[in-house]
Amino acid sequence: MYASIISIAMNGMNGYPVRVETDVSPGLPEFSMVGFLSSEVREARERVRTALRNSGFALLPKKITVNLAPADIRKEGTAYDLALAVSLLAANEMIPQERTDGIVFIGELALNGELRPVHGVLPRVCRAKEAGLTTCFLPFENRREGAVVDGIRIIGIKDLREAVHLLACPEEQKPEVCPAREILEQTRTYSVDFSEVCGQYGMKRAAEAAAAGMHNLLLIGSPGSGKSMIARRIPTILPGLTWEECLAVSKVYSVAGLLNDKQPLIVCRPFRAPHHTISTAALIGGGRIPRPGEISLADRGVLFLDELPEFQKNTLEVLRQPMEDRQVMIARTAGSGSFPADTMIVAAMNPCRCGYYPDRSRCQCSISDVRRYLGRISRPLLDRMDLCVEAPPVGYSDFSMPAAAGESSAVIRERVEKARRIQQDRFRGENIFFNAQMQPKHVSIHCRLGAHEERIMKELFETKKLSARAYHRLLKVARTLADLSGEPDIRDIHLIEAAEYRSLEEKYWG
Ligand SMILES: Nc1ncnc2c1ncn2[C@@H]1O[C@H](COP(=O)(O)OP(=O)(O)OP(=O)(O)O)[C@@H](O)[C@H]1O
Ligand SMILES: [Mg+2]
Repeated sequence: MYASIISIAMNGMNGYPVRVETDVSPGLPEFSMVGFLSSEVREARERVRTALRNSGFALLPKKITVNLAPADIRKEGTAYDLALAVSLLAANEMIPQERTDGIVFIGELALNGELRPVHGVLPRVCRAKEAGLTTCFLPFENRREGAVVDGIRIIGIKDLREAVHLLACPEEQKPEVCPAREILEQTRTYSVDFSEVCGQYGMKRAAEAAAAGMHNLLLIGSPGSGKSMIARRIPTILPGLTWEECLAVSKVYSVAGLLNDKQPLIVCRPFRAPHHTISTAALIGGGRIPRPGEISLADRGVLFLDELPEFQKNTLEVLRQPMEDRQVMIARTAGSGSFPADTMIVAAMNPCRCGYYPDRSRCQCSISDVRRYLGRISRPLLDRMDLCVEAPPVGYSDFSMPAAAGESSAVIRERVEKARRIQQDRFRGENIFFNAQMQPKHVSIHCRLGAHEERIMKELFETKKLSARAYHRLLKVARTLADLSGEPDIRDIHLIEAAEYRSLEEKYWG
């Protein structure tokens, strides 16, 4: 007897259907598995055989051959166990094959027949739906994550016996429902607020502009001036996620195994703040089976690098490619994967080891020490930071009441949302959402300058010795500043402000 059951494999962020074919024929008892399998997939043979026996299903001693097709793509992970078990049962005529039509099976089996959760359920279910499958049997603990996708029935299963029972009695299948879009629309509260930051108007303005266009931001200044404080409040002013963005972010978390019953969906823009001792692989992603790194977990959100010069230099340099391409390509012998990295990078740093340069009355560092410290940030990396702002020390008058309380996050977010809506209209149908994502062709269309502005830009380009990249990035920031003030055209003030955000490079690194 022959049976064929569908499961979904993962390659990076993408799922693809896999057929688990089983043939049972008379002959010496044997169990072989083929189809370009990694060791954990080959081990499924022992897991599934034992799980079947412990669930009360005795297979006849026959020659069993299993093939995972297509046979030219390497299969990794443990998510095929359930499909393999069902395929074996169908080939042994213990369940009718036609009952499995249109169903995709995902899940790892324990030796006692229980189903264990697996990574990447969300992208797998999305792919199953695209492939025209109507029902998905998956581990009970993954059911809410799967139910986020509408248009496909999700049946959460606790063990193998339950799967067999529900296949025999389809009327008892109760699809899981998850009101995902409603969860996304709920308002969220934060424990911190921008109103707590006294003074520092320059940094706050830059943070607002960065949030509005998703530009990279670098904060430099003396200790205790509020850099980390401002960076940690950026999530409170970021615009909400659209449904498409929410799904894209959640898929990354699904592949990383970070979704669960309580959090089946990522509803806020992520804010990731890895410690500076982080390894390159953890930051960028990697491993034998490639997993997303911090930069991908911060997709559509913020990657905050506090104390930037303290990071390993090599670790920082690997950010250069994803900062430009907005995705990470990871190639392995077992297969390659690409992960999204559409991230706004926020970094904070002191200008020297003691933190007080260029205040020579307090700074103890020699000029060469300062150079060495600043030299840990390479010029190409600096070139990618769209807005660099200085944090002056906070004066006592900044704290004096009642003027001390700054604008609340809600007020700032309203302006950011307004600028975001302008960008959404501008890029409708382009699959981009923010000014920072503009490619050169978009820049030439949407950042056109008038004759007066052209002259100013030429002068800025020549005096600041801008690179072509810096020129494009400056225009994008100017576009965001114009959007924030609700103006259709970029004006001289926007160009000058955007250029101002590039002047620290000269001051500290020049
Ligand atoms: N502008 C400010 N308004 C109100 N409180 C502030 C401000 N700046 C600093 N503080 C207070 O100082 C604390 C430390 O600030 P923060 O961690 O942001 O400093 P920092 O600039 O990141 O310093 P470092 O360079 O040492 O990392 C804050 O938790 C807050 O209590
Ligand atoms: Mg800090």
